[in-house]
Amino acid sequence: MSFASVLVLNGPNLNLLGTREPAIYGAETLDDVARMCRDAAERLDLSLDFCQSNAEHQLIDWLHAARTKVDGVVINPAAYTHTSVAIADALSAIDKPVIEVHISNVHRREAFRHHSFVSPIAEAIIIGCGTQGYVLALERMATILKTRKAQ
Ligand code: DQA
Repeated sequence: MSFASVLVLNGPNLNLLGTREPAIYGAETLDDVARMCRDAAERLDLSLDFCQSNAEHQLIDWLHAARTKVDGVVINPAAYTHTSVAIADALSAIDKPVIEVHISNVHRREAFRHHSFVSPIAEAIIIGCGTQGYVLALERMATILKTRKAQ
């Protein structure tokens, strides 16, 4: 029985990981990332939901369900990071810790990637660590949730 549950949510085009601009996003597929997250969650005693959608409304519906289902959210909103007030609003409505992940260093890239609607809501942001960023986010989330439970 795990001590907390975490939703790992992935936005548009991340289903193409491994074949999509590998010089930027690396060679691992989303299945590889899911496996890394499952291994990390087991080690950290977390239960895990790992989801991806290309549809903004689907991501929002999962975030609404997360309000009562999970203790924390790790999200790579992908391009919606830079465009979606609706996803930022859904994250604000959750009232659970949120960690934002980006595989690439968005600040080294085009100017339109430098702004995030999600960052002001996030407890932590992990950028430019490749797919390892997801594992780092789960490790940080476990620490946050353990500290909150102890208070
Ligand atoms: C991304 C960065 C975004 O700018 C981009 O639209 C993505 C992926 C990343 O993980 O580096 O799709 O979120």
